[in-house]
Amino acid sequence: MPGGDSPGVGSSRRGAQRVPCNLDDLEDRLVEGAVVALRADFNVPLNRSGIGESRGAEGTVRVSDASRIERTLPSIDRLVAAGARVVILSHLGRPGGRSDSAFTLAPVARCLDGLLTAPAGFVPHAAGSRVKRAVQAAKPGSVTLLENTRFLPGETANATALASDWATWADHFVLDAFGTAHRAHASTCGLPRAVRAKGGMAVAGRLVERELAVFADALDEPCRPFVAVIGGAKISGKIDVIEALLPKVDALLVGGAMANTFFLAMGMETGASLVEAEKKEVATGVLETAGARLVLPVDCVTAPAIRAGASARIVERTGIPADEAVGDIGPVSVRLFGQYLADAATVVWNGPMGVFEVDEFARGTVQVARMAADAADRGATVIVGGGDSAAASRAAGVAPRISHISTGGGASLELLAGRELPGVAALSGRRCRGDT
Ligand code: 3PG
Repeated sequence: MPGGDSPGVGSSRRGAQRVPCNLDDLEDRLVEGAVVALRADFNVPLNRSGIGESRGAEGTVRVSDASRIERTLPSIDRLVAAGARVVILSHLGRPGGRSDSAFTLAPVARCLDGLLTAPAGFVPHAAGSRVKRAVQAAKPGSVTLLENTRFLPGETANATALASDWATWADHFVLDAFGTAHRAHASTCGLPRAVRAKGGMAVAGRLVERELAVFADALDEPCRPFVAVIGGAKISGKIDVIEALLPKVDALLVGGAMANTFFLAMGMETGASLVEAEKKEVATGVLETAGARLVLPVDCVTAPAIRAGASARIVERTGIPADEAVGDIGPVSVRLFGQYLADAATVVWNGPMGVFEVDEFARGTVQVARMAADAADRGATVIVGGGDSAAASRAAGVAPRISHISTGGGASLELLAGRELPGVAALSGRRCRGDT
């Protein structure tokens, strides 16, 4: 079905979204000398120190955490080894559809060049004739990074004209941007469909393949007990995840400010805590159907204000002072959560237990990170998704012990909620192999 919209995965699937065609399907004979557009997620943190003294000198900007770039290297190396002309597209931040030097990918290009054995070029344009000329001049085995795709208004609008412009030079497409696969943008959805329409292949890169496999294995065939830990500020962003996970897990541990909304639904005093009063009914519904599998904190760390130096105290959840706010789960809750994690064979963790950036309220999150790592040491599969949980794992010094730290926050939440990722749905389906 050339150019069709049926990707081989779709809304009729029963389990988690699995990988369609991958890099192994893009055989060497197809790749040699061909232009392969690779959508990466190089939305990486930058260290902007020194910019104050030399305003406008982006040369002082450095990538401060290159893990997302490093995890794309296997796909790039495979394509380079096969003689492809690799052209990488990525966004950085949210520049709002216009050029903004604060969001240039130039520092990323320098970082990439240092990591690759092949020379990496940078084109300071994201589309159009100058990009086309640069691509035409590229040699087999070369790597070229284009400027930030979000400098173009058509990117987030998934504009057909933009996808068609890229497809004039792209023979094949590789999606290695797991962190952006939940966005239906021109570079994640329009381009793969345009490439397929002209007879090319659109496949998952190694990073995307691994992410999808890890989540699908955990969600479809988890070793039990299967324990999910869900935290973060808002129940509204994660209610779908909670509802989708509850039938699958043996226990779902809830921390972070979202627990306050459950407390509210249980008729408790929540004081000056962050709550979503408008979600009280939703929380009540979840409490009614969840039964014993939903595990809430039994004590909390509160303070008059959630800030450094606050005089924090530990209270039972039924004793939250009217003029104080909850900033973390308490020590009894940590031990309670620890009992579930000690037995777990599969753990999925997304979202901090409190305001972990502030020392006074960091303990719950740090302890969960340590207990999750202990579970992994005992042989459990432990998957951490979301920037905050990943950062907490690193801050606690346990990241290397975690089985899988996902490169996608929003994308991993979509998978946990049982939804399909539009970027993956746009790829060539396994059923249509050889038929794009
Ligand atoms: C991320 O960092 O989560 C991804 O790059 C997606 O970024 P976005 O939320 O701006 O689309």
